[in-house]
This record gives sequence, C-alpha cells and structure tokens, in this order.
Amino acid sequence: MTTDTTTVTGTTVLDARGVTMRFGGLTAVRNVDLQVNSGEIVGLIGPNGAGKTTFFNCLTGLYIPTEGEVRYKGTVLPPKSFKVTAAGIARTFQNIRLFANMTVLENVLVGRHTRTKEGLWSALLRGPGFHKAEAASRERAMELLDFVGLANKAEHLARNLPYGEQRKLEIARALASEPGLLLLDEPTAGMNPQETRATEELVFAIRDKGIAVLVIEHDMRFIFNLCDRVAVLVQGEKLIEGDSATVQGDERVIAAYLGEPFEGTPGDEEAAEVEAAEASAPSDATPGKENDR
Ligand SMILES: Nc1ncnc2c1ncn2[C@@H]1O[C@H](COP(=O)(O)OP(=O)(O)O)[C@@H](O)[C@H]1O
Ligand SMILES: [Mg+2]
Repeated sequence: MTTDTTTVTGTTVLDARGVTMRFGGLTAVRNVDLQVNSGEIVGLIGPNGAGKTTFFNCLTGLYIPTEGEVRYKGTVLPPKSFKVTAAGIARTFQNIRLFANMTVLENVLVGRHTRTKEGLWSALLRGPGFHKAEAASRERAMELLDFVGLANKAEHLARNLPYGEQRKLEIARALASEPGLLLLDEPTAGMNPQETRATEELVFAIRDKGIAVLVIEHDMRFIFNLCDRVAVLVQGEKLIEGDSATVQGDERVIAAYLGEPFEGTPGDEEAAEVEAAEASAPSDATPGKENDR
C-alpha cells in the first residue's frame, strides 16, 4: 500500500469498456464504460435491479462479461476472483460475508491470504508456514482493525458484532489484501445516520491512503458528499456520468428514481402484487436476491 497521502488524479486504475452481461434473455448490464482514476472516489447509483451488483461481479471475476473488457492498471483482468484480488482489486458484498464463527482478527487475517505466500489454507489450518508469517500479518491486521475502529473487538466472534461493525470488518478484510482499488457494494445499508457519517469519513481516509474507491449506494446524501464523480445505471445502461452537481440536477436521473417506488414504502398495488407472486411461487424461487456470488 502506498503511504502517499496526496490526492493525485490522473492515472487510470480501472478501465471497463463495453461491458455487457446477459443472463439468458435478460441483459443485466449493457455496453457500460467506466473509468476510475487514482485518487478518486467514484459512485455508482441506480434503481434496484439496474445492474450495479452485476457490474461489480463483472469487475471482480465472479462473472465473465458476455462482451467487453476490464483492465486494471493497464492489464486485462484474469477471469477468477482470487486472481483479481491478487492483482489489486478488493470488494465488499451487498450481503455481508464474514466467517461468522471466526474472530474479528481472524477474518482480517484470512483477507491477507493473497499477500502472504502461505496462502488461505495455511491460514485456516494454521500450518507451520503460517506461524512464521503470523506475527507480521497479525501486526498488519491489527493496524487495519485500528484504522476502521475495531481494534478493541479483535478477539470477538464476527457474528457477535452489531451489523454496522460487521460492515466495517468487511472493509478491513478487503483492505487486508492491500488493494489499489476498493469496490464497496452498499456499505451503509442498514446503518444509522451516525454510522453512515463514520463510514463516509472512513472512505475518505481510504482514498487518502492512495486507494481508489468505486462505491454503490442508495443513500444519495452519502454519495453526493463523497464522490468526485457519479455514474448512473438504469436498466443496465449508463444514463449519465458527471460530478455530483451535474448528476443531482439531471432530470433523467430524477425521473429514473421517481419511476420506482421508494424503498421501504411500497404502495398498495406493489404490496398486492408481491403477495400474489409469493402465493403462487414455489418457495425456493427467489431470483435476483442472492445474486452477488
Ligand atoms: N446470476 C443471475 N442470474 C440471472 N439474473 C441475474 C443474476 N444476477 C443478477 N440478475 C438480474 O440482473 C438484474 C440486475 O441485478 P443487480 O445487478 O443485482 O441489480 P442492482 O445491484 O442494481 O440492484 C436483475 O434483473 C437481476 O434479477
Ligand atoms: Mg445490488
């Protein structure tokens, strides 16, 4: 990780060109170009189902895009998520993924496996190689826990952390791979306003460490405070991209959001539709929910 704290924008860290992702007849992402430069925080917003998480999955090797190309620092990314992490892109997930029965510290140590030659299994099984590298790794992991504000909970089990702290732990684990680009998928989902503010500060601090950030979030205040640039996805396509003021004032963006019911306040019609669908659907069919594998 670079210790340079100046904010230099310029060199392209992420360069996604013409990314398209189809699932059968559904085009979830259509011909999307997006660049992230060093020193930048870029936002990706759009209504539910717009393709934001699918786009992240295309950037991180979870999905191989149907069309298009993704480069990280000039090199085309390998189509495997662990190789993408090793190349320098780390992420958090919309649905938190931690090792629930491991401690907070152990979760971060697992995040370091792409940076220690001992590897993941050695870390999990605590083989002889692991013990040698352990001291240095623990020190770095504790530094990261301190950075996100969880140092005093290092020995707690991950599952016992409150929700907001689990999100912070996911960020610490992602940082443990020493990325040059961090992708955050709805990092403040389920947080109260104070936790959201703290997360905002944390993202600025990450950027100040020289890590570029691409963040998906529904909280518009969070996005517009934070981001140097914001891209808007609607039905898989990039509708507009610009600075916060430009995007905020764009009528098409407002229309795209007003076209869908606001989260948490479905109208009677939507509620009736959902009820009817649930009554007729087989119980294991919940498409589009757990799609961020
Ligand atoms: N693995 C998948 N198989 C089929 N359809 C998918 C898959 N992943 C996502 N989708 C569909 O792609 C669309 C975009 O979903 P998603 O990327 O999760 O949107 P967002 O993150 O913007 O809410 C949705 O219609 C969703 O159901
Ligand atoms: Mg999503």
